[in-house]
Amino acid sequence: MSANPLDHHWYAVATIDELGDAPVSVELLDISYVIWRTATQKLIATRDRCTHREGRLSGGTVEAGCLRCPYHGWEFGEQGRCEKIPSSGEGTAIPPKAHLTTLSIEEHYGLVWLCPDEPKSSVPDLGVERDANFTRLNTPMQVWNCSATRMIDNMLDVAHFPYTHVGTFGRQQERVVPNFSLKQLDDTFYGYEYSVVVNNEGGAKSMSGGGEDVISLEMSTGFSLPLSVRSTMSYKNGIEQTLFMTAAPISKGRSYFTFVLWRNDDVSSTGQEIVDFELAVAEEDRKMLERLKGELALGHGDLVDVQSDKASLEWRRRYRSLISPEAG
Ligand code: FES
Ligand SMILES: [Fe+2]
Repeated sequence: MSANPLDHHWYAVATIDELGDAPVSVELLDISYVIWRTATQKLIATRDRCTHREGRLSGGTVEAGCLRCPYHGWEFGEQGRCEKIPSSGEGTAIPPKAHLTTLSIEEHYGLVWLCPDEPKSSVPDLGVERDANFTRLNTPMQVWNCSATRMIDNMLDVAHFPYTHVGTFGRQQERVVPNFSLKQLDDTFYGYEYSVVVNNEGGAKSMSGGGEDVISLEMSTGFSLPLSVRSTMSYKNGIEQTLFMTAAPISKGRSYFTFVLWRNDDVSSTGQEIVDFELAVAEEDRKMLERLKGELALGHGDLVDVQSDKASLEWRRRYRSLISPEAG
């Protein structure tokens, strides 16, 4: 069992689109892993380190579903089992220690999720994925030069809309965040519901389905431990969107970030515009957050919190108990 409590939870580290014919290298919580697809289309994740002389497996190739180490050509198949040691010749027994140890890997929502150690939670459940009225739009996996904790604090916060997002949807006139209460939004997400008034110009119109240049919409925003946030948006014209954002710590000050959208309208002609608009919004957050060094202070009372920070405060309280159970 690993000493890091974060190792027992799931993180999106790649998009399924990234997994082609070559092995994919990812890094999570300071450890490098390699992911590939076997002959039976199963995904395998193991340390990016060959059992023989620690060759970087991600620099190898996948041949008929077997990952071949680039150093001496050992081949690894289903469940990470070593199938071939070319230097030993056909029919020679494979030493038991030659097999790779695999870790938990799952595919959900077009994303590849890893859990480094025995899972103590599940990948966040997004019921909208099973709703036939909704279409999913994926976006590329990004790497942000900031801590994942700062990203979640940002995603749970609406007070930054009229400042950070003034270039996309934020309205400088709408600064006051009405008092809200936190609640369980469904079985997975905990957060709050609110109404916002936003600018609805340019690319925003593809997202909202058109209308006036300033509109109001109903939203909810909530978190799922450790590092995922979901926002839902309901427009007056009946369009609904779910925005799922998730972060994963790569190493100190570097994190994966991606978001997934589900929409109940026809996105065959507008999908790319909607994604581009949300990417521009995320870019505004990235620019703001990459100037902030180190982890978000997590200790009780370490930060100044006002009423609009309630959701972040609760997320930090629960995240603290997750990473140091004895303190919680
Ligand atoms: S290090 Fe991988 S085959 Fe030798
Ligand atoms: Fe933001």
